[in-house]
Amino acid sequence: MKFFIDTANLEDIAEAQALGVLDGVTTNPSLMAKEGITGAENILAHYQKICDLVDGDVSAEVISTDFEGMVEEGEKLAALHPQIVVKLPLIADGIKACKYFSDKGIRTNVTLVFSAGQALLAAKAGATYVSPFLGRLDDISTDGLHLIAEIRQIYDNYGFDTQILAASIRHTMHVIDCAKIGSDVMTGPLSSIKGLLKHPLTDIGLAKFLEDYKKGNQ
Ligand code: G3P
Repeated sequence: MKFFIDTANLEDIAEAQALGVLDGVTTNPSLMAKEGITGAENILAHYQKICDLVDGDVSAEVISTDFEGMVEEGEKLAALHPQIVVKLPLIADGIKACKYFSDKGIRTNVTLVFSAGQALLAAKAGATYVSPFLGRLDDISTDGLHLIAEIRQIYDNYGFDTQILAASIRHTMHVIDCAKIGSDVMTGPLSSIKGLLKHPLTDIGLAKFLEDYKKGNQ
């Protein structure tokens, strides 16, 4: 299972990268705005900084909603760095753009996916990644994990290469449950990755080992 971090915060990205378990980064316009990154040139420069920090894929989202605009933006983003994956919204023009990029060998991440039918369309259009939003479904009392399981079943039935990128991950149990279902990738905040480290018995056990070592080596 690949671990992506879902942020545009360079400190968080560097910390996850230093842990040695990071496979990539996902961003979106809201995450960019949260870091105060505005204006096309600054946004491109920020993507470049992210690519310099990590080894894996970096999803960069278009803001156009028409095919021509998505193609123009996506081509500019893809030309920026080989690690860039063009992130497209799951709307009709997004699916058309996904097929366009897929035919050209440019990698894509189809985002804002909330149903199995949408995920099927993204796979048919040749998406590299599909991003079902787990947490946002849970937020409206709908089982987000069930959607991940449905997509897994459909993709396995037909051998689609599209990787399931479980997005809108909020906490460690989402990560573990997605791993159990067989999601190819998860993207979440740094806390969802670091939270996996925690167990009180690890802390108690380590303290005891160190205490016993001290006693034995006095
Ligand atoms: O990047 C898309 C997705 O991960 C957003 O997550 O927490 O805003 O629902 P969230």
